[in-house]
Amino acid sequence: MIDYTDRIPNNVDLGRDRVLQRALEHWQPAYLDWWYDMGPTESHSYEVYLRTAISVEPDGWAQFGYVKMPEYRWGIFLQPRDESRQVNFGTHKGQPAWQEVPGEYRSALRRIIVTQGDTEPASVEQQKMLGLSCPSLYDLRNIFQVNVEEGRHLWAMVYLLHRYFGRDGREEAESLLARRSGDEDNPRILGAFNEPTPDWLAFYMFTFFTDRDGKFQLCALAESGFDPLSRTCRFMLTEEAHHMFVGETGVGRIIQRTCEVMKQHNIEDPADVRSQGVIDLQTIQRYLNFHYSVTLDLYGSDVSSNAANYFTSGLKGRFRETKLEDDHVLSSADYPVFEVSGGKIVTKQVGALTALNERLRDDYIEEIKDGVSRWQRVIDHAGVPFKLTLPHKGFHRAIGNFAGHYITPDGQVVREEAWKQRQYEWLPSDADYKYVQSLMCGRVAEPGKFANWIAPPLRGINSQPLNFEYVRFN
Ligand SMILES: [Fe+2]
Ligand SMILES: [Fe+2]
Repeated sequence: MIDYTDRIPNNVDLGRDRVLQRALEHWQPAYLDWWYDMGPTESHSYEVYLRTAISVEPDGWAQFGYVKMPEYRWGIFLQPRDESRQVNFGTHKGQPAWQEVPGEYRSALRRIIVTQGDTEPASVEQQKMLGLSCPSLYDLRNIFQVNVEEGRHLWAMVYLLHRYFGRDGREEAESLLARRSGDEDNPRILGAFNEPTPDWLAFYMFTFFTDRDGKFQLCALAESGFDPLSRTCRFMLTEEAHHMFVGETGVGRIIQRTCEVMKQHNIEDPADVRSQGVIDLQTIQRYLNFHYSVTLDLYGSDVSSNAANYFTSGLKGRFRETKLEDDHVLSSADYPVFEVSGGKIVTKQVGALTALNERLRDDYIEEIKDGVSRWQRVIDHAGVPFKLTLPHKGFHRAIGNFAGHYITPDGQVVREEAWKQRQYEWLPSDADYKYVQSLMCGRVAEPGKFANWIAPPLRGINSQPLNFEYVRFN
């Protein structure tokens, strides 16, 4: 018999929970099968310089060393319990936080946990092939770190399903390993997680935009009145920060390299920029437009009775709920949402409870703006006359009040034909993808070397030098 306490670092007293142990005995081998099948291609014997969490203490969640990824110790960690914690919003506000699942919210909570859990293996599947075209060992190590941590986030959600949801939970845990990103018959639950991530620019955009959606969802669930969910999400957030760092610095380094080459050769025309083997800023803008718009859809409909119910029941709060100064019930407050009416975008006040998806989306957009302005600084600093912009919130949307309307990046409502005629000014075309992929046809695997289209990072991982052997191929 496998000693799970040893194999699975945890702070949930796994060794003493027989029911949970038995559930994991079935699930763990299935998880490994999934990893061998859908984890990073050809990577199983590599030794990767990874961070492994072995406890929630500051010195325990960042242990670095060489690991073969199938032997990564996917742990189960919850932030320590605060005995005095309460439900902080909705109709149960002021009651002690729930340590077990309230019967009337069982199916809603299970749905929330499954939807979050489904995104974690999905992104590993989307990124499966990228290791074969990495721009450096440093970047290869980073994508693998992101992949094993998304695997751990799946473990975190599966722990909750096994521990608190009995047989339905076990069935859901199996389904999480059966769906596949982009599969026609059995796709992942949310749209953006079925889009391909075909190249490294898409990967960095994904970790900047879509992992940040993950952050905001986790922040909202960290406020949950169901305490084990809250404590699980709080620990996951420590890892999510690294994923967004990988995305922001990855795009930043691509921009930096492009600007260096533009200045060096005194060129601005995208065709000239491409002839130097780097990615023109116009293409980067189109990738940005795509990833931003598909990620905005992940927040759901602008007006949603589900969102209202989740809040009123105390299951899912707002971003930084306990720091907000209002009644935390919202029964009489309003919130503005956009609507397309008579060929124009107009603002409409709706009940704040029904607009909670929109509010979380707006909080997210604020943080995105800051990141994009940091990218802009790289361009300005190089002295290149180019402005990166965030498209209008309604651009290229498939869910909510903008769905079915044709909105330009600057917020004009236009006819379908007019929009379609110009869509490849705004979104990556097949030719763009082909060009970007042509730069990434093999891996750069010599320690300290970087592909021509990306600048080296400022520093290495865990104070190691840039020419450190972050991955050993064996
Ligand atoms: Fe995650
Ligand atoms: Fe992530």
